[in-house]
Amino acid sequence: MTKKAILLAGGAGTRLYPLTKIVCKQLLPIYDKPMICYPLATLMLGGLREVLIISTPKDLPMLEDYLGDGSQLGIRIAYAAQPKPEGIAQAFLIAADFIAGAGASLILGDNIFYGKLDFYRAALALEHGACIFGYQVRDPERYGVVEFGPDGRALSLEEKPKVPKSHFAVPGLYVYDERVVEFCRELRLSARGELEITDLNTAYLQRNELHVKLLTRGMAWLDTGTQTSLLEAGNYIATIEHRQGLKVACLEEVAFRMGFINQTQLGALIDRLPKAEYREYLSLVCEEGPSAVHPEPER
Ligand code: DAU
Repeated sequence: MTKKAILLAGGAGTRLYPLTKIVCKQLLPIYDKPMICYPLATLMLGGLREVLIISTPKDLPMLEDYLGDGSQLGIRIAYAAQPKPEGIAQAFLIAADFIAGAGASLILGDNIFYGKLDFYRAALALEHGACIFGYQVRDPERYGVVEFGPDGRALSLEEKPKVPKSHFAVPGLYVYDERVVEFCRELRLSARGELEITDLNTAYLQRNELHVKLLTRGMAWLDTGTQTSLLEAGNYIATIEHRQGLKVACLEEVAFRMGFINQTQLGALIDRLPKAEYREYLSLVCEEGPSAVHPEPER
């Protein structure tokens, strides 16, 4: 059964104040497009076409204004509110009706992945259990951290440990089977009053049903949690785009290359765009047509 996609784009955004006083974090620019385009493109490139965006009641209207019902991209986008940031795993309780007994993949709205996404497609194809990823970072104490045994099997998961047991952080991209809502209902609030995603993953680990796949160092997983990492992510995207002349996470292009929309539909979208570099870029993509050779990672 195809998995449903959840994009969690809530949170107080306090760390980035005053940038987030009016505009939510996920609509802040990462170089030439709003942040939310990057995680949404990741879901789409995974082949997922039914997406639930969860955010605060205040920010939902702006996100909806930007992305609409998704039909222009050949996908379906629904929206749901998380009144208070009571934990990442709460997303599955909010999404219970949307998931409706299917499996689900969650991505955090501030996580940017750049590189070949075959690791994600392989995870989405799993029938049973859950799959998370490990990515080497310099500062693992800022993240969920996975510890491995000598045989390479995951031993434990800890959320922001003071003394991390490895350098492998768990990125905000997760894949679960159809039991995810049931397992979330069994979670208890953590000391900081949240339903922790790390506790959900531990529930799968304890049942021996958690796959943990390491991402290669050739993959970029970028963080946007601080002013500095936000700037660094923007510079990274700008560098890649200037070098290749290709855009990263241009949603209309992704929809076209994935076959979610055809050339005529892309042409109609372009007609509605204002005169901008973005429009010129998409016009070139459209003229080249679907059969044009296109480099990884766009498929
Ligand atoms: O980025 C990966 C990390 O994301 C993982 O390694 C951690 O295990 C995971 O807990 C999370 O850590 P963060 O410190 O980044 O979590 P934060 O509370 O900042 O939330 C991440 C995003 O999710 C943020 O953009 C806001 C959103 N969020 C968060 C919570 C707790 C919500 O929309 N609702 C929430 O209730």
